[in-house]
Amino acid sequence: MAETPLQIVILAAGQGKRMHSNLPKVLHPVAGKALAEHVIDTARSLDPSRLVVVFGHGGEVVRSTLDSADISWAKQEPQLGTGHAVAQALPALDATGQALVLYGDVPLTRASTLKRLLHAGRDGLSILTVELDNPTGYGRIVRDAAGNVQRILEEKDASPAEKAIREVNTGVMAIPSARLGEWLGQLSNDNAQGEYYLTDIVALAVAAGVPVHTAQPDEKWEVLGVNSKVQLAELERVHQRNIAEQLLLAGVRLADPARIDIRGSLIHGRDVAIDVGCVFEGQVELGDAVEVGPYCVLKNVKVGAGTRIAAFCHFEDSVIGPDGVLGPYARLRPGAELGPEVHIGNFVEVKKSFVGAQSKANHLAYIGDAEIGERVNVGAGTIICNYDGANKHKTIIEDDVFIGSDTQLVAPVTVGRGATLGAGTTLTKNAPPDALTVSRARQITVPGWVRPKKIKK
Ligand code: UD1
Ligand code: CA
Repeated sequence: MAETPLQIVILAAGQGKRMHSNLPKVLHPVAGKALAEHVIDTARSLDPSRLVVVFGHGGEVVRSTLDSADISWAKQEPQLGTGHAVAQALPALDATGQALVLYGDVPLTRASTLKRLLHAGRDGLSILTVELDNPTGYGRIVRDAAGNVQRILEEKDASPAEKAIREVNTGVMAIPSARLGEWLGQLSNDNAQGEYYLTDIVALAVAAGVPVHTAQPDEKWEVLGVNSKVQLAELERVHQRNIAEQLLLAGVRLADPARIDIRGSLIHGRDVAIDVGCVFEGQVELGDAVEVGPYCVLKNVKVGAGTRIAAFCHFEDSVIGPDGVLGPYARLRPGAELGPEVHIGNFVEVKKSFVGAQSKANHLAYIGDAEIGERVNVGAGTIICNYDGANKHKTIIEDDVFIGSDTQLVAPVTVGRGATLGAGTTLTKNAPPDALTVSRARQITVPGWVRPKKIKK
């Protein structure tokens, strides 16, 4: 909880020309989530009374993508600078407490850093600053001999001597709400860029005798912004490295923390091991001692304890029981549900089907819209023909069934408990329990048949 009422303004009107994209900059993803969404989520964690996002020309898609009941939207058109941007949010703000300004293209600032900034500024204005070896492009923090902040000077307005200042404005600022309107009203655009600079309110605060403080982030990457795909890729790696480190600290064995991507949340038990190149999307849950081989993609999947997933598997919206053996090259599509100790091998696809305990489909099969019992053996090349070209139909395979290789089950069809289907069967009617059912042309051998020979010219 903030100590004083908190209102947050997120600036997201910038076009992002250097992204060379039709997608507004703040909608580009880091870890599968829009830049601005990272900022909005962090802002929410501070429990503000108001949350205003300033969006720009062509940014309707920003609004429609991110809209939510707790967000007020302020349109800025044209874009005349950061001060002008905050001014567009004024009607949605009230004059109490602190107004925190965040940038929609600076996604990784931590709530703990923002809390420290708000605490520093509780009796005035506070600026989040960092010291950079190369401060080029940033606004410089100008201090007097006693070290008190005097103002922020933009790069383009600074003299060579002023450009030597290495402490820079990150853009994040906490401002007393009661003074915001008055100060914004006093901004002029008489500067090198012809813009209304939010940064100019610092000198106005100093002139008004309002204390100005600074705070620093724990880590420099917290204040990195995105202006190009290069910076977007850099931030992605920084963020993924942080997530990987958390996983390692929590006991997950990662073959290489630089080669994993988490685009959502990964919940895990003890002794989980993940090989290189895996991508986890949405909500993924890995039970104790789960092993994930190299280059697997898991999206919204729950995996039971002790299950081993070999290389190159692709699973989506599925639930996998404990002690399963999956892959390599297995595919689980939405609605696949596997019981305990199920084996799904190479080039086997399961969709919207339940597979009971200890059942196996080890090679080259399609299982769709099916309910498979326990201890069923699905032979190589088995195809469940679930689709008649218009509708999908269900297949039921009861416990202890053995399905021979290269069998087609034309749904809807039921295979009774303990039944055996001979290899090559095309099953179009129900197969009774405990019996061999086979549909196959009888084998013949043609006597006296001679293989053709090449005719000589
Ligand atoms: C700004 C700061 C600078 C600071 C730097 C940190 C000002 C005048 N300068 O400079 O001191 O070191 O950020 O990155 O504030 N935006 C709008 N509407 C506008 C202009 C900008 O919404 O009219 C948004 C942008 O989308 C962006 C943020 O404000 O998210 C910053 O704008 P940008 O143009 O990048 O500011 P800088 O010139 O880099
Ligand atoms: Ca910038």
